[in-house]
Amino acid sequence: MAKAISMREKKEELDTVTIYIMGQGYKVPSSLTIMKAMEYAGFKLKRGVGCRAGFCGACATVYRKLGDYKIYANLACQTKVEDGMYLTQLPFVPANKAEYNLDEIKPSASTMLRFYPEIARCLSCNACSRVCPQDIQVMDYVQYSLQGQIDKAAELAFDCIQCGLCAIRCPAEIPQYHVATLARRLHGRYHMIAPDTLEQRVKEIEEGKYEKGFEELMSLSEEELKKRYVARDFIDQKKA
Ligand code: SF4
Ligand code: SF4
Ligand code: FES
Repeated sequence: MAKAISMREKKEELDTVTIYIMGQGYKVPSSLTIMKAMEYAGFKLKRGVGCRAGFCGACATVYRKLGDYKIYANLACQTKVEDGMYLTQLPFVPANKAEYNLDEIKPSASTMLRFYPEIARCLSCNACSRVCPQDIQVMDYVQYSLQGQIDKAAELAFDCIQCGLCAIRCPAEIPQYHVATLARRLHGRYHMIAPDTLEQRVKEIEEGKYEKGFEELMSLSEEELKKRYVARDFIDQKKA
C-alpha cells in the first residue's frame, strides 16, 4: 500500500532546490544549510565540520552558481542552499604556521616579518576582507602587522575563527589568520596585564589541584559522563 504523504512532506517537496555536489544533482529542502543539505543528500561528514554554529571555522566552503562567473566562499554551517549551487570539497588550506617562543620575541614589525615575510607582498587588493565570514577587515590587520602596530592588528582580528577563507583568496599567499594569531599572542603577552585570578589559577593547575578531578572524569563511562553533563551546575553570568 502506498504511504500517505504528510503535509510536512508535501511542503518539503514543494520547497526543494537542486544543488550539485561533485557534479551530481540532489534535490534538497531549500531551508537547509549547505552542511545539512550534504547530510540530507547522504554524505557522512567526518572532516570540515565542527561546532555547526559558526564558531570553529572548520567548514569553509567554496561554491559556484550556474551562469555566474564568481567563486563564492562561506561557512557551510551558516549558509543556506540555493537552487543551482555547485559544491565541491576543499582538501585543506595551504597555510603554514610559524613556530616561535613568545618569551624570546618582541611585539614589533620585524618580528612579524621574520615569521611571516609574505606580509610584505600584500597587494592591498582587499580580497581577504571581502571573503571573511566574520566581516573582519583582514587587509587592515595585515597592514597593521607590517607596520608593527601589533595592538591594532590583534584587536581587529579578535573575532577570527580561523576558517582559512582569506588565505585561499590571497594572491600573495599570505596565511593571514596565522599572522593574526601571532599578533594576538604578542599583544596578550606584552601589552596586557594578567589578572591576579589568572596567576592564581595557573598556580593551582601547576600544583595539581585539578588532577584528581580529571582522573575521575577519565575513568567514567560514556553514560556516566552524559549524566554528569546533564546534572552539571550552571553559573548565571549576570549574577556571578
Ligand atoms: S580572518 Fe580569515 S581565517 Fe579569520 S575568519 Fe576571516 S576569513 Fe576566516
Ligand atoms: S588578499 Fe592578500 S594581497 Fe590581497 S589585501 Fe588581503 S592580504 Fe593583501
Ligand atoms: S562547523 Fe564550526 S563554523 Fe561551521
